[in-house]
Amino acid sequence: MSTDTLTVTDNRTGRTYELPITYDTINAMDLRKIKVNDDDFGMMSYDPGFKNTASTKSTITEIDGDRGILRYRGYPIEQLAEQSNYLEVAYLLLNGELPTQSEYDLWEYDVLHHTFVHENIKSLMESFRYDAHPMAMFMATVSAMATFYPEGRDIDDAFNRYKQIVRLIAKVPTVAAFSYRHSRGLPFVYPDNDLSYTGNFLNMLDKMTQVKYTPDPVLERALDVLFILHADHEQNCGTATMRVIGSSHADPYSAMAGAAGALYGPLHGGANEKVLRMLLEIGDIKNVPDFIQGVKNRERLLMGFGHRVYKNYDPRARIIKNIADEVFEVTGKNPLLDIALELERIALEDDFFVSRNLYPNVDFYSGLIYQAMRFPIAMFTVLFAIPRTVGWLAQWQEMLTDPEQKIARPRQIYLGEGARDYVPMNEREG
Ligand code: SDX
Repeated sequence: MSTDTLTVTDNRTGRTYELPITYDTINAMDLRKIKVNDDDFGMMSYDPGFKNTASTKSTITEIDGDRGILRYRGYPIEQLAEQSNYLEVAYLLLNGELPTQSEYDLWEYDVLHHTFVHENIKSLMESFRYDAHPMAMFMATVSAMATFYPEGRDIDDAFNRYKQIVRLIAKVPTVAAFSYRHSRGLPFVYPDNDLSYTGNFLNMLDKMTQVKYTPDPVLERALDVLFILHADHEQNCGTATMRVIGSSHADPYSAMAGAAGALYGPLHGGANEKVLRMLLEIGDIKNVPDFIQGVKNRERLLMGFGHRVYKNYDPRARIIKNIADEVFEVTGKNPLLDIALELERIALEDDFFVSRNLYPNVDFYSGLIYQAMRFPIAMFTVLFAIPRTVGWLAQWQEMLTDPEQKIARPRQIYLGEGARDYVPMNEREG
């Protein structure tokens, strides 16, 4: 008997089945041969939220949730945060290898020379209500970009995919900055291609009457590292959405608008905004014990804590905590930090959290930095979407070039009514 198999006995029939094991998984389609009657549909697996279902094979990002490990194409996130920059990491995620100097120079040139958006996109963004949420503006504008680049629908052409990938990575900081300026009632600032990717983003956010904007190097570097940390995270909700929409061969703009919609949710990328609102609601360190009790009474979640994969400290949260100290040197310490540190101290000692493996995740400390950098809270999830754009696109491209992938179409367990006849209105009971 082969050792790489699962022997399953169906006690309803006494039949035994040998299911091949590859990569420590069984192929769900092999379950279909398990039947009581030959004309049965066959067995399926049931996995709400896909807690234990691999939807793809991937070589992009590896997470070891028990050991708190995160690697992009094999490189530890700690080393990339320390030694790389966002555009280099974007190249790595998309191509699988770190670029040579000439490859990097061409990549950087391509991205930094596609930062402008069509004037009609600017008009579209100016038409949003004054108080439109920047994340909703971001999603709508990314979706609208499909109308400016209809060739994006040709997803089978590699060079065409590259052009759309460059456009999206290059333009999302512009779209994000425009949404911020719109929410502040300020004129939009056009890109300055002399600046770095992140420096230009700060320029489009903050430039006022000065002829040439010069970003603060500490803030520019801190934001670039935050972008590295948020770039990809294997099959999270937003990325899974990108893959599902992309599996129908929709264009990347439409797929990414959907991915951004998933990220917007408070259980996902929207958590960074919720963390700040939670800290503001707590207001003072003396209120932390009562708040924690409310969490333990199931009255609320401790936002920024817990993770589907990490059952240990999110390595990104550890790095972000260190960045906070550098940023606060420039901006002044965020007074909410003490409340966040007290929440973490108590949670890491309290069995309610420890027994559920609830540790700070990427969203717990990032908002403190963004607020100290004077970003409005409503911008926080947009600051997540900008860097995650490359993760979504790298995973989308991997899905399209994977011969095993098909259009995503899950099955269901039907528990509704059996067949019944239509009842005319005048014969229906009260
Ligand atoms: C991101 O997937 C990714 O990789 C996402 C992400 C990325 O980079 O893309 O890492 C980014 O989305 C980080 C997560 C940000 N979300 C939050 O901080 C929101 C608060 N966290 C929770 O909503 C929750 O922890 C999730 C959604 C993150 C994970 O939920 P799971 O895996 O479905 O776990 P669960 O809800 O089944 O919780 C298990 C237990 C439950 O208690 P019991 O019913 O078993 O007694 O833990 C409890 C939950 O009630 N629990 C929490 C909690 N998170 C889980 N209790 C209080 N506060 C929390 N935050």
